[in-house]
Amino acid sequence: MQLWRVGCGLCTCLWPVLAETREYLANSWSTSFYRPHDVQIRHVGLVNEETVYFATASGVSMLRDGLLTPAVELHDAELTAFHLCHHRSSIFYETLSKDGGVLTVHEYSLLAKESVKVAIFQETVPAKALACVDHLLLRASRANLVAVSLTHDAPITLLQKFKEAEDFYGSLAVAFPADSVHEAQIFGVVPRNRTVVRVKLQQDSANLHLSGIDELLTAGEGADGLLETASVLEPRFVAWLHGKLLFVDHCSLRQVVDGRVSTLLGTPGDCAEGNETLQPAFWASKITAPLGLAAESEATAGHTSLLLTAKQVIEVTQEEDACAESSRAECVKAAAGCGWAEGDRSSQRRCFSCKRLQRWADAQRPTVEPCSLEAAQGPARYDLVGCGCAPPKPPAAKDDSAAGVVRVMVFLGCLGAAAYWYRQRQLQRRDDFVMPAGAQFHTFSDGEGYVRYDSEPFS
Ligand SMILES: *[C@@H]1O[C@H](CO)[C@@H](O)[C@H](O)[C@H]1NC(C)=O
Ligand SMILES: *[C@@H]1O[C@H](CO)[C@@H](O)[C@H](O)[C@H]1NC(C)=O
Repeated sequence: MQLWRVGCGLCTCLWPVLAETREYLANSWSTSFYRPHDVQIRHVGLVNEETVYFATASGVSMLRDGLLTPAVELHDAELTAFHLCHHRSSIFYETLSKDGGVLTVHEYSLLAKESVKVAIFQETVPAKALACVDHLLLRASRANLVAVSLTHDAPITLLQKFKEAEDFYGSLAVAFPADSVHEAQIFGVVPRNRTVVRVKLQQDSANLHLSGIDELLTAGEGADGLLETASVLEPRFVAWLHGKLLFVDHCSLRQVVDGRVSTLLGTPGDCAEGNETLQPAFWASKITAPLGLAAESEATAGHTSLLLTAKQVIEVTQEEDACAESSRAECVKAAAGCGWAEGDRSSQRRCFSCKRLQRWADAQRPTVEPCSLEAAQGPARYDLVGCGCAPPKPPAAKDDSAAGVVRVMVFLGCLGAAAYWYRQRQLQRRDDFVMPAGAQFHTFSDGEGYVRYDSEPFS
């Protein structure tokens, strides 16, 4: 029994059996959308796939048909916060004057193409997040959460004050933002205690106030699954996309929908060291820690979000795929028009349509030849016979047998180490006794029956 326990303990330390806590979304695709050159994008916003806005420290530009055109240019101020408000067709942005001291929030109309001043803050705590709901603009900083009325005279209501200057919201998202504050749902990320919360606002007659905060996701390892058991490792941003709450968790993009948490891209806690990798096999994709997240408008039919990283802007889309539910056998049939990817774990399986794969491959920069994935090294193995590629080469026999030999050796090593440890303990136990000359004693050896030692008189 002891031998078994020791052997087991040793083997688990050498051979980690990680819990399966990742649930990938079967219909999500990630592609490189834009790679900035010589500019540092700080914020992204999108109306739909065709109309995207990027903000840098010195202004806002619109990307349409591959062309970047300036929308807002700042000369004597720096842009500190940005929010694209879908239901008002406008952009809110905050600027800090170059001489310091004055923070100004502006609203830029996407239709009229001009900005108006919304509010001025005579303090130097720039906004961490802006979000619009109904006729209000929510502004979160390290100091407080306020609501700026956009209807008349822009009175500012203090909703929450942060004592330690630490409990602030790092990001805000609003579900159903065009509805009244009662019906809209406001979500926030609290970086200090690593939680995603729901913030409730109440408007009675003239008085707007915060009526409660519920925890939605609490700090943990970043496990997927039911909302009650799921957790976040390091929440950074939230966004609302057609009934789904998207959130950036460390180096991943995840979502909450119908009480279930799943992963769309990357793995929390497993960041790209150098170049980012995007692959149809989700588990093989690796990104650096995102700097921003934006989702398209409720008025659109698509399911697209943009993730800003230090390297690029990544488009993450969700779409129906007839192949998604197929087993491996169904998936790789030549006539099925589906491709297959698998990894070492049971959650690492994916069947996808060849047409979608081709679109993904064409969108990569540089473009990828889909069949070349079969030869790729890494945590994903592809079988793309159904997409007209040659059958993948079976995994190199040498590698396989080498891995097999290593496994056997590790196992034998474990057994040997355990047996050695056990023997040492037995000897140790014998030495622990101070044996009177000529005495006899008995000891048990597990499962081996009765062993009798005759001690030698000490000399
Ligand atoms: C985290 O902070 C939020 C906002 O202050 C609070 O509502 C929530 O209860 C905190 N959660 C934990 C686990 O401390
Ligand atoms: C990253 O990508 C660039 C261009 O594709 C390549 O030249 C470079 O070697 C890559 N770096 C690493 C660490 O893979």
